[in-house]
Amino acid sequence: MHNLFTTIIIIIFLCKSSVALGGRTVSGGWSPISDVTDPKVVDIAKFAIDEHNKADHASLKFAKVLKGESQVVAGMNYNLTITAADGTADHDYVVFVWDKPWQKFRQLVSFKGPI
Ligand SMILES: *[C@@H]1O[C@H](CO)[C@@H](O)[C@H](O)[C@H]1NC(C)=O
Repeated sequence: MHNLFTTIIIIIFLCKSSVALGGRTVSGGWSPISDVTDPKVVDIAKFAIDEHNKADHASLKFAKVLKGESQVVAGMNYNLTITAADGTADHDYVVFVWDKPWQKFRQLVSFKGPI
């Protein structure tokens, strides 16, 4: 009887900790970004454009973030749909940025578009 009770407690504990760990794995859930004008989000978008410009010798200029979502990993993943100007016209792009602010680490994982 006592053992059964202990087993149940352990099972409950394991379930809870796997849910807690879930937030830190790559398969954790994505949350929509409600405020796309948040300076932190805009900063991520500008970073994506800067990195893309450097890598591709492009000269896109940030216009705005249209929508996005973020995911808690070791840090935070951002998946943003943004508008940027290439000199002639505005186009939309989907950018993916990995941010670990406490390590001052930020990486452009992918830059797709125009879409
Ligand atoms: C990022 O967002 C775009 C547009 O909503 C979507 O098509 C794409 O699948 C998303 N990418 C990831 C890795 O979630």
